[in-house]
Amino acid sequence: MSDGDGELEARLVEQEEFEPSDEFVEQANVSDPAIYDEFEEDWPHSWERAAEMLDWFEDYDEVLDDSEEPFYEWFVNGTLNASYNCVDRHVENGDKNRVAIKWEGEHGETRTYTYQDLYREVNEFAAALLDLGVEEDDVVTMYMPMVPELPIAMLACARIGAPHSVVFAGFSADALATRMNSAESRFLVTCDGYYRRGDALDHLEKANDGLGGVDHGVDATVVVDRLGDDGFGHDLKGNQHDWDDLLDTHDGERVEPVARDAEDMLFLMYTSGTTGEPKGVKHTTGGYLAYTSWTSHAVLDIKPEDTYWCSADIGWITGHSYIVYGPLSLGTTTVMYEGTPDFPERDRLWELVEKYAVDVFYTAPTAIRAFMKWGTEFPERRDLSSLRLLGTVGEPINPRAWKWYYKHIGNEECPVVDTWWQTETGGMMVTTLPGIGTMKPGSAGPPLPGIDARVVDPGGEEVEAGRAGYLTVNKPWPGMLRTLYNNDERFISEYWEEYSDPDADEWVYFPEDGAKIDEDGYITILGRVDDVLNVSGHRLGTMEIESAIVGVEGVAEAAVVGGDHEVKGEAVYAYVILEDGYEGTDEMRDKIVAGVEDAIGPIARPEQVVFTPELPKTRSGKIMRRLLEEIANDEELGDTTTLRNPEIVTEIQSKVQND
Ligand code: WT7
Repeated sequence: MSDGDGELEARLVEQEEFEPSDEFVEQANVSDPAIYDEFEEDWPHSWERAAEMLDWFEDYDEVLDDSEEPFYEWFVNGTLNASYNCVDRHVENGDKNRVAIKWEGEHGETRTYTYQDLYREVNEFAAALLDLGVEEDDVVTMYMPMVPELPIAMLACARIGAPHSVVFAGFSADALATRMNSAESRFLVTCDGYYRRGDALDHLEKANDGLGGVDHGVDATVVVDRLGDDGFGHDLKGNQHDWDDLLDTHDGERVEPVARDAEDMLFLMYTSGTTGEPKGVKHTTGGYLAYTSWTSHAVLDIKPEDTYWCSADIGWITGHSYIVYGPLSLGTTTVMYEGTPDFPERDRLWELVEKYAVDVFYTAPTAIRAFMKWGTEFPERRDLSSLRLLGTVGEPINPRAWKWYYKHIGNEECPVVDTWWQTETGGMMVTTLPGIGTMKPGSAGPPLPGIDARVVDPGGEEVEAGRAGYLTVNKPWPGMLRTLYNNDERFISEYWEEYSDPDADEWVYFPEDGAKIDEDGYITILGRVDDVLNVSGHRLGTMEIESAIVGVEGVAEAAVVGGDHEVKGEAVYAYVILEDGYEGTDEMRDKIVAGVEDAIGPIARPEQVVFTPELPKTRSGKIMRRLLEEIANDEELGDTTTLRNPEIVTEIQSKVQND
């Protein structure tokens, strides 16, 4: 039997609601249901509770300034430093010897950083950045795999007030160049390489290619030596510096954390949208840090003495908020792992849970689906009894996967929090609170206290329980994005135009997800309603992939849709029209796949490339993506009568089926 379904007792299969144990509730950081009312009655002042989790240099004098909606400001005129909050204050409070980061490499080598160690390296690297000419408000790009130098570099930037822009290491050289160009970033921190399933990967070559595509001058690049003797022998160029040399040069130096205004940018994070251009989501120092600290405390139930592990990559928002800023601000021990879950064996993650006695574990549904497929023997090999709480994020989790996780990882003793949020929201928005709520597998839960999320019809009216609609957020929250970098207009058109009524001074945030809500106010997320795919919990714009395909010689037109995939959730299906004189050969297919990998990265690799003489189009010339999705999923086709070329549908269908 390849999954746990047969082993789940009938009780568990049919059970639709689960309660946290008394034991969990008793120790939970938040366990009084009154918190929902408290937040509502005193809104927005209730958010002071989040701000109070931080140490401020200067107090704010207003919680929320909404005088220029939707450009909200939180904790107005307060000043603070994120690096001080994540590092110094724990050292000063007597926790200098507590472990901040437990890192494990793919081959099992380990590194342990106490808060004192972190303090030392963050300071030294901050001194190095200053020496390289980084000034407050300069954007420093990081293109790094899961090495401890990544959070250290992020915190060093925060210390000197230089916003970071982390680009996922799996993205291509082109993607790096696009993001550096957009942010006009003149500094890069990168790495010689890293290990993937036993192989050393050359990362610096990709970084150098990317640098070649940067339109402006780059002042300095710092390169971490991860591979040592396994490295690829690249010589560092004139303005490239070795990380260790820099730390040696600045050995023992200290840099005062600068006082940043609450609204000063902490970082940029690029994410995919409907158009081909990635969006630079801007997060600020006060609101973001308060929000990630508060949600780490309330939802992840993190205590300083815990060992906490989020298995995401820091190159995504999940890693920023819930590997780095939230957990370190709370002074806990956060685990970082370099490798993949199935190398050298499929019990690798459970081996680490056992080894480090992990208390709280946060992962993605795509991983859980893979674990299910591999079978229960792998978690059963290990002692997982240290676990107290489990979480998921990134995409909808089906009840079967939820229950498998609950039983086979949590031993029916750990609550599971299914947390809905986005790059733009900064932190969790819709989820049960583990010490309070009934859990309903498949449904994320109610909006968090203080979050006014609703499910509405196209006119913005709330829908009845059980009906599908669109998710909206009708009040601001501290962790929200403040704008898209250098693009206020697009910020408004992407997120606010759909449901707001500026004349009536009503501003409504639209996350572009479909959802439904039940009688108890529990929200089930139905997925994106824009042209964005969710592949293994990673967000990919169909337009970005299409333009990569159209860039391949011989391609005339392309349409990309998501097809259902057992493990990835969604997989990329590409329908391609070739120019005259080109043929849909295997070679052509390989070129298209390579084109996508070069433009974006292997995560965007098409699962299927279907060559077709035409695409199904409406009379007005719009590609009917819905039909292409139905074909990819082998579903019964909906209405085709509005098509200009209905005959093409059966032709494409037979190609997909025969492939
Ligand atoms: C999109 C945001 C939040 C960090 C990871 C992804 C989907 C996220 C859930 C969930 C159903 C979810 C949504 C959202 N999503 N969490 N618990 N249940 N869907 O961040 O790349 O910004 O993607 O991921 O569709 O809009 P992201």
